[in-house]
Amino acid sequence: MTHAIRFHQTGGPEVLKLENVDVGEPGPGQARVRHTYIAVNFIDIYFRTGRYPLALPEGVGSGLGSDAVGVVEAVGPGVSDIKVGDRVGYLIGPQGAYSQVRVMPAEVLIPLPDGVSDSTAATLMMKGMTAQYLFRQVYPLLGGETILYHAAAGGVGLIACQWARAMGVTMIGTVSTDEKAEIAKANGCAHTIVTSRESIVERVKEITGGKGVPVVYDSVGKDTLMASLDCLQPRGSLVSNGTSSGPVVIDSQLLAVKGSIWVTRPAMMHYIQPRAHMLDMARELFDHVLAGRIASEPRQRFALAEAGEAHRALESRKTVGATVLVP
Ligand SMILES: NC(=O)c1ccc[n+]([C@@H]2O[C@H](COP(=O)([O-])OP(=O)(O)OC[C@H]3O[C@@H](n4cnc5c(N)ncnc54)[C@H](OP(=O)(O)O)[C@@H]3O)[C@@H](O)[C@H]2O)c1
Repeated sequence: MTHAIRFHQTGGPEVLKLENVDVGEPGPGQARVRHTYIAVNFIDIYFRTGRYPLALPEGVGSGLGSDAVGVVEAVGPGVSDIKVGDRVGYLIGPQGAYSQVRVMPAEVLIPLPDGVSDSTAATLMMKGMTAQYLFRQVYPLLGGETILYHAAAGGVGLIACQWARAMGVTMIGTVSTDEKAEIAKANGCAHTIVTSRESIVERVKEITGGKGVPVVYDSVGKDTLMASLDCLQPRGSLVSNGTSSGPVVIDSQLLAVKGSIWVTRPAMMHYIQPRAHMLDMARELFDHVLAGRIASEPRQRFALAEAGEAHRALESRKTVGATVLVP
């Protein structure tokens, strides 16, 4: 018997319960992974609250989480490129990462290089790979641009700050407090806007000499949509990559009025396949870490049983950088 967080109905953090589970042996194409760290991501909150639908069969419920690191302790038939003892991480696959041990499709496992610790890797899988696909694939940055990035002191945000600095990109980052502003700046965010006391649009115009920015990466959603559109240059791009404050609804006519704006709502799963591409993305991320251009450690740690507390902290904006559960 091992422990896992499961939930049987959508709702507040209290629906997350620690339960005994039987894990069993891996079948064909599968590997059993003993977790060392489990990453908490905002998307887990969308699943817990029901904003993203998940099947919750009567009496069975569901696991939660899709992002963890650990050690492979068994592999099933037909698995050749992952072996027992490998240190691995993952960010896609079935829900259920909030667990001590689990069986996973081997094809989603990413081997971790020597020199990248498990705790660092736990901040990189979903969050670092998100920075990779946003900056290198969705709206590819060339270096030299000035960009607006919302939630710059968040889990994805602190890695994005460092990635932007490494590329020679000037990041203007929004944060809610002066403390978060200091942390974002220390991670490479060139300019911060403290949203509790500053106007996003006024500050962006001031910093860019009235020109605005060519791209906004907006994971906050509902609360920042209008400001994001008003900060863009004509024919600029809004990358709407999250909805931490609530869903985004856009009237297409508004996009014309605001300057023939391009909008995309990207999802990781469309940028990470096939496996060879996922491994290339991870290699690029690990290279930044191994070269010292990106440094990342969890800033909040909770026991697995305290997953609900971790969610409370994340959704009430009390966290900075990455949050992990320790199984
Ligand atoms: N599309 C994709 O493939 C993809 C992949 C990964 C993540 N994401 C998205 O990227 C975002 C960041 O994820 P994360 O896990 O790293 O979370 P996070 O950025 O660590 O946490 C969310 C942050 O958003 C800010 N925020 C602004 N308004 C908020 C509100 N009403 N409620 C809660 N937070 C609010 C807060 O920062 P301040 O206090 O500084 O405002 C908060 O710390 C999420 O929206 C997530 O869904 C998308």
